[in-house]
Amino acid sequence: MNQTAATQMTGAIRIVVITGSVRPGNYTNMAAALVLDELSRHSKVSVDEIDPAVLRLPPPGTYPPSSDMTQLQKRVEQATGVILATPEYNGSFSSVMKHVIETLGAPSPLMGKPVALLGVAGGTIGAVKSLEHLRSVVAHVGGIVLPLPISVANVQRVFDSEGRCLDQRAEQLIRSVATNLLKYIEQNVCPRVTLEQLLRDDGSPPKIVSV
Ligand SMILES: Cc1cc2nc3c(=O)[nH]c(=O)nc-3n(C[C@H](O)[C@H](O)[C@H](O)COP(=O)(O)O)c2cc1C
Repeated sequence: MNQTAATQMTGAIRIVVITGSVRPGNYTNMAAALVLDELSRHSKVSVDEIDPAVLRLPPPGTYPPSSDMTQLQKRVEQATGVILATPEYNGSFSSVMKHVIETLGAPSPLMGKPVALLGVAGGTIGAVKSLEHLRSVVAHVGGIVLPLPISVANVQRVFDSEGRCLDQRAEQLIRSVATNLLKYIEQNVCPRVTLEQLLRDDGSPPKIVSV
């Protein structure tokens, strides 16, 4: 995946994608690249890609906070929705991902935001455990974890070493992480934003529309 910290496009819906592997040549970033590509197909969506490999994030609770840490918090605060892509490490999600979540602080900027999950595993069982653990932690900090997390098993057979996806069905499922999140936002977040605009635009109460 492109290592730039932020991929910006113009638009109203802002999606932050955070990846949880810093291993050189890692497969999590390959899967996340498909999600980013899917998001880039939607003109009203702006994408901010957060790769912890390029951030300086000191251990949570230590001082002084790094500028990367405060930037990370701001970037997630500004998100309409968030995608977390984690590898399966030792039967759970990665310590890198946990570090990012802890660095976000409390109250977490994930609170009240829709969060979609993607897990990538080398094993045949897939990333089921990491996704369950991650779901629990994200819910704990107040994120709205969406149903249909996607787990990629045997990932070294799904992508080649250049990051090309070799499995059409897996590609569809990985891309669905992006489309499911956008669908949720369109159905549940955008109506609230529109109502808010109606309320604020001219100070008059919203019009009642018959359907
Ligand atoms: C420290 C470590 C622990 C791992 N533990 C597991 C595991 O418990 N189950 C599994 O299926 N794969 C495990 N793997 C393999 C990863 O899931 C595999 O490398 C996969 O590509 C996702 O990680 P990556 O994004 O860093 O490439 C482990 C890999 C590492 C480096």
